[in-house]
Amino acid sequence: MPVPDDAAIEHSMRLVSAIIERIEQRGGVIGFDEYMQMALYQPGLGYYAASLPKFGAAGDFVTAPEISSLFGYCLARQADALIAQGCAAEVLEFGAGSGKLCAQILEFLPTLARYQILDLSADLRQRQQQYLMERLSAELFHKIEWLERLPRDFDGIVLANEVLDAMPVHILHKQDDWQELGVTYRGQGFAWQALAQSEAVGVMRHIESRLGELPRDYYSELNLNYQPWLKSLAESCRRAVVLIIDYGYEQSQYYHAARQRGTLTCHLRHRVHGDPFIYPGLQDITAFVDFDACADAAEASGFDIAGLIGQGQFLLANGLLDEAQRCAGDGDPMTQLAISQQVATLSLPQEMGEKFKVLALQKNLALDIPAMQRGYAYG
Ligand SMILES: C[S@@+](CC[C@H](N)C(=O)[O-])C[C@H]1O[C@@H](n2cnc3c(N)ncnc32)[C@H](O)[C@@H]1O
Repeated sequence: MPVPDDAAIEHSMRLVSAIIERIEQRGGVIGFDEYMQMALYQPGLGYYAASLPKFGAAGDFVTAPEISSLFGYCLARQADALIAQGCAAEVLEFGAGSGKLCAQILEFLPTLARYQILDLSADLRQRQQQYLMERLSAELFHKIEWLERLPRDFDGIVLANEVLDAMPVHILHKQDDWQELGVTYRGQGFAWQALAQSEAVGVMRHIESRLGELPRDYYSELNLNYQPWLKSLAESCRRAVVLIIDYGYEQSQYYHAARQRGTLTCHLRHRVHGDPFIYPGLQDITAFVDFDACADAAEASGFDIAGLIGQGQFLLANGLLDEAQRCAGDGDPMTQLAISQQVATLSLPQEMGEKFKVLALQKNLALDIPAMQRGYAYG
């Protein structure tokens, strides 16, 4: 495991102290969701709240807009097709990361009337502003607005790329019965401890009763944020299409008997591992998205489900190969090779093509979204 420098370790220790204090206030144990919330979002200290590099080669992981502008161009083509059918020419992006996706979309679609960004991280907001001011023309930059809270009566296209995987989850463990695992502190470090009471256990039992019995010694995660997040999003949208893009599974795969160790994943300097207690604040902690739970929560909140499809199929249907050809143009062989590599990474089933999925929702719209139908392939 990479060893952070002294300043980073000191930063992590300040967060550790804040979490220990919270554990003491709660009588000795907190839910893992609360631990993850603090580890990622504690003001000034959490992974997303502090000013450490996160994305790209110098950071901890790479997301699709960091890999290639083709990702944003395809989303812009999808947005354009929705706008042509009457959707408002506005985008609201959740969790905009470095700001690259915003730049890619605005450059491809300069006719957008407005691009709003809502990010929990004040540090990332600042970095997005800096990056986008340098990268975009003044005219495009002035179309961007950073929001503190959800807008009212939003009309347009909502994007959330790798946002839901960064929401805090509950951890469940089945022995004879289910129990929720919380976090305590034992002098040497954080440790798991079963919680005496848990709302998540009831939800997990319900999932198991629908899917079939899971084996003993089974670990999994449960994200109870989809419902409140989608409910407040639905309340703030008047006529909108929502595209949620993330790594995840449908429930039969998520809670598959063979996935006995769950999907909790940590990223530290491009090292992927499963220990969320290492260097709190210095590493990303994520869990795969349960797309069925997400779709159920969306429907209960008043959205219509337009479909769920692999990212590869979605991008191919939105002109990935045309855009690759356009970008490669008469470029030198190295550029052409790099672009082919980007196409492969974004779309091949064994890369991001199947693991990442797109869930499309509509509110008060019934637009045609052909990309949500299976059947697109390399042609
Ligand atoms: C894994 S990063 C992805 C960043 C970017 N979308 C990308 O693809 O590069 C997760 C982002 O989601 C943000 N985030 C998490 N929960 C959020 C929420 N409820 N509302 C807005 N932003 C959120 C984080 O602050 C962070 O910017």
